Amino acid sequence: MDALAARAAELRRRLEEANYRYYVLDDPDIADAEYDALLRELQALEAAHPELARPDSPTRTVGIAPQSGFAEVRHALPMLSLANGYEHEDGHDDASRFPEAADFVRRAQAELGRSELVFSAEPKFDGLAINLRYERGALVQAATRGDGSVGEDVTANVRTIRAIPLRLRGTPPEVLEVRGEVVMPKAGLEAFNRRALAHGEKPLANPRNGAAGSLRQLDPKVTAQRPLAFFAYGLGEVQPADAAPPSQSRILQWLRTLGLPVSPEVAVAHSFAELIAYYRGLAARRAQLPYDIDGVVFKLDAVADQERLGYVARAPRWALAQKFPAEEQETVLEAIDVQIGRTGAVTPVARLRPVQVAGVTVTNATLHNADQVARLDARVGDTVIVRRAGDVIPEVVRVVPDRRPPGTRPWHMPTHCPECGSRIERLDGEVVARCTGGLVCPAQRKQALLHFASRRAMDIVGLGERQIDGLVDFGYVHGIADLYRLTVADLVAMKQRQDAAAGSVPETVKAGKVATRWAENLVAAIARSRSTTLERLLYALGIREVGESTAKLLARQFGSLQALMDADEASLQQVPDIGPVAATRIAHFFAEPHNREALAALRKAGVHWPEGAPQRAAQGPLAGKTVVLTGTLAALTREQAGERLEALGAKVAGSVSKKTSFVVAGADPGSKLARAQELGIEVWDEARLLHELRRHGQAP
Ligand code: IVH
Repeated sequence: MDALAARAAELRRRLEEANYRYYVLDDPDIADAEYDALLRELQALEAAHPELARPDSPTRTVGIAPQSGFAEVRHALPMLSLANGYEHEDGHDDASRFPEAADFVRRAQAELGRSELVFSAEPKFDGLAINLRYERGALVQAATRGDGSVGEDVTANVRTIRAIPLRLRGTPPEVLEVRGEVVMPKAGLEAFNRRALAHGEKPLANPRNGAAGSLRQLDPKVTAQRPLAFFAYGLGEVQPADAAPPSQSRILQWLRTLGLPVSPEVAVAHSFAELIAYYRGLAARRAQLPYDIDGVVFKLDAVADQERLGYVARAPRWALAQKFPAEEQETVLEAIDVQIGRTGAVTPVARLRPVQVAGVTVTNATLHNADQVARLDARVGDTVIVRRAGDVIPEVVRVVPDRRPPGTRPWHMPTHCPECGSRIERLDGEVVARCTGGLVCPAQRKQALLHFASRRAMDIVGLGERQIDGLVDFGYVHGIADLYRLTVADLVAMKQRQDAAAGSVPETVKAGKVATRWAENLVAAIARSRSTTLERLLYALGIREVGESTAKLLARQFGSLQALMDADEASLQQVPDIGPVAATRIAHFFAEPHNREALAALRKAGVHWPEGAPQRAAQGPLAGKTVVLTGTLAALTREQAGERLEALGAKVAGSVSKKTSFVVAGADPGSKLARAQELGIEVWDEARLLHELRRHGQAP
C-alpha cells in the first residue's frame, strides 16, 4: 500500500511539473504521449484504490458530477472594469490619434507631480475574467466576474483547466487571490471546430464565446474537453497583505514563480511614446498571436502610484484599456461573385454593404471556395459577420441565421467562367475550382503571357510585366499568338498610351527615337522566338503540372505536337514521371477548343519547331530505367550527371514515383530521397554513380 501511495504521489508530482513547464515556462520536457500515459496510470491507480485519490490530483476531472447550476460568490474585493481608449484614425499626431491614452499619461504626471513614470504594458486578453482563490497554496475557489461584486462559482470547471495549478509552487502566502483571463487559443478553437463539424455538432463562434461557454458548462467533463488557457494579470485579496511585491511588473514575475501562467508579451514602458509603440507592436503581431486579444492595457507600475490615483466608479484611474479597432463587424451580403485568379483558380467573393472593420471600410470579403460557402450556408441577403485580422484579406466568418430574410437560395459555383465563358471544372479531391479557359481567359492572360515569354520558355527578351500589362490593358494582345502580329507602330502607340496613363513623358523627338528603338528590339526578339523546340513550346503553354522536365519527357515521348494532342490519359500515363493528375491536366488542356485554336494560331503566325517520330525505346545499358537526381554532387553538376545517364539510355525524371528505377542522392538531398526510401526505391550515392558511369565510359 505504501508503495502504491508513493507511486501515486510521484505521478502527481511529475504531472504537476509537466503542467508547469508547459503552461508557465512554455518549455515542455515530456511528449504528449508520455503525459497521457502518466495520467492514465494515475487514473487507474486512483480508481482501484479510492483512498489514494486527492482533491487536488491532476486526474481531477474524473468522477466529478454535473452540477445543477452555479452558486453565487461574493468577491472579497470587487472585480473592476477598465476605462477604454481608442485609436482615432483622423488624428494628425499620436496625441490626437490616442487622446484617451495621452490624457491618462498627462493626468498621472500631474497628480503624481513628476514627469518620469513607469508603466506596465500588457495584452488585453479577450476571454473570461476569473478570480482564483488559493488558501495555503491550494485552489479553493474559482469565480467569474459577474457584476463585479457577485460572480458565479465555477470551481469544478476551472479545476479541469490544466494551465491553472491546483496547488501553487514555492512559498505562497496564506491567502492569494489571482485574477486573470481564461482564453481559448485560436488553434484549440480550430481543432475543436473541425472535430465538432466532423461529428455534425455545432462549432464555437469565436474564442471568447468558446472560453465563456466552456466555463459555464454544467458538466465539468465537457469543460475538460475544451482547449483552454489562462493568463494571470492581477491580484485580489492577499494575506498577509505585505506578501505581494510593490509593483505590477514584479507582481506578475512573482505569480509566475508561484506557478501561474503570465503572458510573455508583458512589458514595462516609460513614456506615452513607449506605450504607443507597444500598442503598435502588438497590433502588428495580433494575427500571429496564439490567442485573441482586443487591445492592450496600460497600468501605472508602482502600487504606491496606483493608490494615489485611486478609482472612479468601477474603474481604476491608474489603468487604461487601449482597444484595437474591432476586427469583426456585421453587415449584409449583397451578392456573391467569382473572381478568377492568375492560375485560373475561381474564388467566390462576397460583395458587402460597406462596413468599417478594424478601421478600414470593407466592401468585399473572400469566401475562399465553394466548400466554404456551403459550410457557412452563406446566401445573398444574409446578415454576415466579417473579419479582418491583421493584413489578412477580410473574410466572412459566419452567417447570423436569425436574420435571414425569406426566399433566399443556396449558392452554387457557376458552371462557366464569367470572364471568358470557358467551363469551370473542379477535379476530384481538389478544393479549388478552376477556369479551363487558360490562354484565352483575360484574367489568366497576363500571367500566361509572362510565363510564355520567360527565358526558359519562348525566351522573348524585353517582354516583361510592364509591357504585358500595357499590351493586354490597351487591347493589343488577347492570346499568345497576337504577340507575333505586333508591329513597331503598335508597340510605340501602346507605350505612348501607357506613359500618358501614368501621367508622364512629354513628346520629344528624342523620346520618340528611344521608343522606336525599344519597339524594334522587342519586335526582333519576338521574331527570334518563332524558331523554338517542342519542349520549350510545351513548357511555355503553362499547362498546370507541366514543368520543364515534364515538357521534355512529353516532347521526346510523342515527338510531335499532334501526337501529344491526340494522346488520351492512359497513354499519357505511360510516360515515366507522369501520374494521373498530370495526365488529366494535359488531356484537358488539349481538349479545350480555345487552347487548340491558340496553338493553330501560333503555327499560322510562323512559330515552328523540329518534329520527329516518337522516340524509339532508348538504347544503352540503362535503357528502360527512370532515374531521379537529388542533392549536390561533387564531381559534376546534376545536369551533367543527367546528360551522361541519358547517354546510357536512362530517362531522367523530376520527381520520384513508383516508376522510378533508382534515385541518385548527392549531399543535402531533399524530400525526393525521403520519398524514395518510403517507396523502397534503390538509392545510389555519388560514388556508386561515378563507378557506373566509369564502367560505361561516361566518367566525368
Ligand atoms: S486589469 C483593476 N489586465 O478586461 C483592473 N484586465 O475591461 C482590472 N482584461 O474584466 C483588470 N486583459 O477581464 C486587466 N491585462 C489585463 C487584462 C484585463 C484582459 C479584462 C478583464 C477585465 C476587463 C476590463
